[in-house]
Amino acid sequence: MGTIEIKYDLNKEKKAKPNPDELGFGKIFTDNMFIMDYSKEQGWHNARIVPFGYIPVHPASTVLHYGSEIFEGLKAYRRADGKVQLFRPIENIRRMNNSAERLCLPQIPEDMAMEVLLAFVKTEEEWTPSKEGTSLYLRPFMFGNDESLGVHAVHNATFMIIASPVGSYYKEGINPVRIMIEDQDVRAVRGGTGYAKCGGNYAASNRAGERAEQNGYSQVLWLDGVERKYIEEVGAMNVMFKIGNEIVTPALTGSILPGITRKSCIEVLKSEGYTVSERLLSVDELEKAMDDGTLEEAWGCGTAAVVSPIGELCYKGKKCIVNGGKIGAVTQHLYDTLTGIQWGKTDDTFGWTVQID
Ligand code: PLP
Ligand code: COI
Repeated sequence: MGTIEIKYDLNKEKKAKPNPDELGFGKIFTDNMFIMDYSKEQGWHNARIVPFGYIPVHPASTVLHYGSEIFEGLKAYRRADGKVQLFRPIENIRRMNNSAERLCLPQIPEDMAMEVLLAFVKTEEEWTPSKEGTSLYLRPFMFGNDESLGVHAVHNATFMIIASPVGSYYKEGINPVRIMIEDQDVRAVRGGTGYAKCGGNYAASNRAGERAEQNGYSQVLWLDGVERKYIEEVGAMNVMFKIGNEIVTPALTGSILPGITRKSCIEVLKSEGYTVSERLLSVDELEKAMDDGTLEEAWGCGTAAVVSPIGELCYKGKKCIVNGGKIGAVTQHLYDTLTGIQWGKTDDTFGWTVQID
């Protein structure tokens, strides 16, 4: 007996599956999508899996005017034995509920969220590509949907999941990316929404991201919003540095997204005896480590990007090539360990994967 009844009204026309060499990121969508509604009176209801397509939104809908929107990102992976599995989906569900709490959107009971996610992945399972490095990216999202211009916590909301077969997030793939340390715009401040995965954080990031791209960089590395002194995170990834024998990643002070890949990297590294510090890391300390050569490796980590080596950092026009612009040993080891578990090539000794039966 499930927590919510799901109606299936599936697409009768199946689209042709894409060429696995030309997937890119988030441009191709599967045949169907999941959708359910929330109202204060009825709670979550009307759960359905329907053909992927446009949805009607009232012109006064809260999301269009006041940005009440949160999302998640996780992947389904095709294992070597043909089965499909998810990586730590409960972490995404918990983070989504934390984001919902911050944005005054309704939370979804964990067992209900897991049930609808698994039901949707099961429906679209055949879209999970099998080529190395590819996966089915799942994008759960929720938005406030009151048909009124008053500003208040939402009374009506919509939750959806869409799915997209993807290749690598960066055109560089596993090759090192160039990152610009942003010293003008800020992404988030403590007390704001930095720890929540809400659309507004990304809208506010675009201007700096554009500037970085125009200068040949893939993304920006944000500094804290108050002093512009401490390293926070990259546009769509958390960040880690190997400085001497210490692996340093910024502490979760409230303005950084608590990444599931970040958490997994820390758990892998600690289980292997590495010294990992979650602490404040000032840009001055990083600059010093660049100058004296103790910055041995830098990498970003996130669901879309997996583990992505940083080959160059630029701060106020000063460039630093990290590890000769090549992927470092710890970065490569983390990439191999995580992708090994995700694609079912190595034993999941942590118990992180959830198989779709
Ligand atoms: N930081 C930001 C701003 C992100 O968008 C993401 C991507 O989800 C991450 C960090 C990494 O989080 P996760 O590892 O949970 O995907
Ligand atoms: C993810 O890694 O899932 C992300 O959310 C990054 C994204 C904003 C594309």
